[in-house]
Amino acid sequence: MPALKTRRFVIQPGGQLTGSVQVPGDKSISHRAIMLGAIAEGPTYIEGFLDGDDAIATLQAMRSLGVHIEGPNAGAVEINGVGRNGLKAPNQALDLGNSGTSMRLFSGLLAGQSFASTLIGDESLMARPMRRVTEPLAAMGASIKPSEKGTAPLEIQPVVSLQGIHYALPVASAQVKSALLLAGLYARGQTCVHEPVVTRDHTERMLSAFGYPVEVNGSTVQISGGQPLNGGKIRIPGDISSAAFFLVGASIATGSALQLTGVGLNPTRIGVIEILRLMGADIRIEANAIQGSEPVGTLNVAAAELHGIEIPTELVPLAIDEFPAIFIAAACAKGETTLRGAEELRVKESDRIAVMADGLTALGITVEPRPDGIRIAGGKLLGGQVQARGDHRIAMAFAMAGLASSEPIQIDGCNEVDTSFPGFVELAAAAGLLIATKDEVI
Ligand code: S3P
Repeated sequence: MPALKTRRFVIQPGGQLTGSVQVPGDKSISHRAIMLGAIAEGPTYIEGFLDGDDAIATLQAMRSLGVHIEGPNAGAVEINGVGRNGLKAPNQALDLGNSGTSMRLFSGLLAGQSFASTLIGDESLMARPMRRVTEPLAAMGASIKPSEKGTAPLEIQPVVSLQGIHYALPVASAQVKSALLLAGLYARGQTCVHEPVVTRDHTERMLSAFGYPVEVNGSTVQISGGQPLNGGKIRIPGDISSAAFFLVGASIATGSALQLTGVGLNPTRIGVIEILRLMGADIRIEANAIQGSEPVGTLNVAAAELHGIEIPTELVPLAIDEFPAIFIAAACAKGETTLRGAEELRVKESDRIAVMADGLTALGITVEPRPDGIRIAGGKLLGGQVQARGDHRIAMAFAMAGLASSEPIQIDGCNEVDTSFPGFVELAAAAGLLIATKDEVI
């Protein structure tokens, strides 16, 4: 049996972030590029693809569904689209690793197929709630069964066709919205999804880029099934969720001045910039341009005195993945920061409210976790040992905390960082974070 390794980060205090950084490709857009490219007519050429474990799980699953894909090769991927009805039955369960986006989007894409499939994942993914997708898909006529607890494995049986529905999402979730839109491609009639608040709209933008008609009206999205998608060229911007760690790191580390190039600045993703600016961060956006169907720009960030705020609840879905990093900013800010309306954080790769609260407490910060958020009293970060509990974003957030701590910080459970940010340690070290990794056999 190969020895299981546990990865630790150790951060020495005293670093500052300077120079220019290009973060890897956007994870959400990478998943969608593979999925839509696979069911499009003709070839699709992707540049800037995220070569991280989550997006690779989607790519490998598409190979198991009979799609020929070349790459990734330095971010380049070439897909031979098989058309909307060209996917083939996989000969084993599709293992989607740690990736919630892969599982939820595939559940929609595979619900309307004429073959059976089973979706599984790692321990964390197999514990995440899936009824939010299986219930509306069943209402469309899908035969999709989660476990008794409402989790994966998801067993999908073949259907002749689906029927479009009008569905009001009970939770703000781009994954659920996207699952229903992907199922809607295979449904008779119209599929109309209404969101309580607008969430990331990469699926809508990419469907349009593939020539598929999509009607967006405020927080309602509608498509009609049965039309073809046309393959083409897609350039994926840098992931703002990865850039977020550097925005926070440079804000809290005295003397920092950092440039982040080629970052995706989709309005449904820039909540982190707005929240940090409300806290007093010095972030400037430059060279904002449209690249394909997504806005992209350069961010300049310099160290600033941050102050605590009440985070506006309407910004929560627009920054949903960035809260681990934002909590570190709050810990370094003057005064109190309060977050409400963010109960979704409890069902991410970990319970991000509980795991962040434990880690911040271990570093000497006073916090009050609540069912739907947290109150953080800004103070002085001491050193210490924290647990990332296998959650990539928590590991990277605490790594940045080392820029403002008085003593070293050791972070345990950092194995999953490559799911979203391969090369994080090298890139952060090159920018000035005093980070080292320690692998231990267990
Ligand atoms: C994602 C949507 C969000 C986000 C996840 C990626 C997507 O999840 O947290 O990392 O690509 O659609 P929810 O839809 O569960 O909010």
